[in-house]
Amino acid sequence: MRKLILVAGARPNFMKIAPIVKTLESGNDHKLVWKIVHTGQHYDYEMSQAFFDDLEIPKPDFFLNVGSGSHAAQTAKVMVNFEKVCADERPDVVVVVGDVNSTLACSIVAKKLSLEVAHVEAGLRSFDLAMPEEINRMVTDSISDYLFVTEKSGIANLKREGKKDEQIFFVGNVMIDTLYYHLNKLDKSLQSRGHHYERKQNGPYAVVTLHRPSNVDDSGTLTGIIEAMKRISEDIPVIFPVHPRTKRNIQEFGLLEFLNGSKIELLNPIPYMAFLDLWKDASLVLTDSGGLQEETTALGIPCFTVRENTERPITIEEGTNILVGTTSSGILAAYESFKKGEVKTGRVPQYWDGKASERIVAALTS
Ligand code: UD1
Repeated sequence: MRKLILVAGARPNFMKIAPIVKTLESGNDHKLVWKIVHTGQHYDYEMSQAFFDDLEIPKPDFFLNVGSGSHAAQTAKVMVNFEKVCADERPDVVVVVGDVNSTLACSIVAKKLSLEVAHVEAGLRSFDLAMPEEINRMVTDSISDYLFVTEKSGIANLKREGKKDEQIFFVGNVMIDTLYYHLNKLDKSLQSRGHHYERKQNGPYAVVTLHRPSNVDDSGTLTGIIEAMKRISEDIPVIFPVHPRTKRNIQEFGLLEFLNGSKIELLNPIPYMAFLDLWKDASLVLTDSGGLQEETTALGIPCFTVRENTERPITIEEGTNILVGTTSSGILAAYESFKKGEVKTGRVPQYWDGKASERIVAALTS
């Protein structure tokens, strides 16, 4: 029997471990046992527990309680605490997902203890080392034994970096497993949990999410993006659930008054189901999130990615995603085309079919 440890730490990780846990739970001949570790990188109710509830993830077996901090402090704290878990549990494989600091920290710890590492969402590259996640991706992939890839660019990137064919598994996208599963359950679940987001009006609207340090930590950049949102909100309501990092900076840069005088509706972070219910009907999504670029492609919703690059090129080549840059003029130029009806249509990428976690569990079993 092989023993797995599944690691999750930050909000986007929870959507990725949820379908893997479900698949493990549903099989009785898998020859696998597993434990869940939550590092505590995200800890607010809306950033963490609300997702465990919505996504039906069992209570973690270990909670490392690392909290926020500089990259070094956060990564180090995860490493120290996770090393103790690995020493006690002696798993065969540590499964890490995505590209957050917890992903990096736990893969390094596992590999140095001679455990196998499986990386879900391997091979994505923005080629932008100013992005902390790019460093996390490169290091994690360089020491992983199993590389589970979401899109074909990942295969090419990993091969270029010298990975062997037998380590690379093109399995599809676990985030989309979660999306399809919960889309089917949406109405019932929202009623029972009381998490429904009440839209103030019918008709078209846009949804915005922003949290990348490169967009929200610089006053000039954040101001430009918000100016563009304000202009768009004169045409259609703009609904903006605000990440804690972004909230802090909006306050610090004195942008709250500017926003309050606009038709932009500011919300606290919202749980998975309520947010899905919101963005799935949006006319337009503006975001710097990685996951939302993929999710909008899966459902065919137009998406403006407020970045200069993406590590998820399939969403542009085949999906509904457009890179609009981070300036007010760039965003508004794209918006003018959108207004004229120049809306990108796309198709759902290969293996984004709701079965990625089944492929992952099959590979880990054999
Ligand atoms: C992290 C990930 C990023 C991911 C994002 C999703 C890294 C390097 N970054 O960025 O890849 O896209 O999560 O949200 O791993 N905070 C709270 N409550 C929380 C968590 C954070 O208030 O529950 C605040 C703290 O002030 C903290 C700040 O948000 O300092 C940033 O949190 P952190 O986890 O360091 O990075 P994120 O920006 O969330």
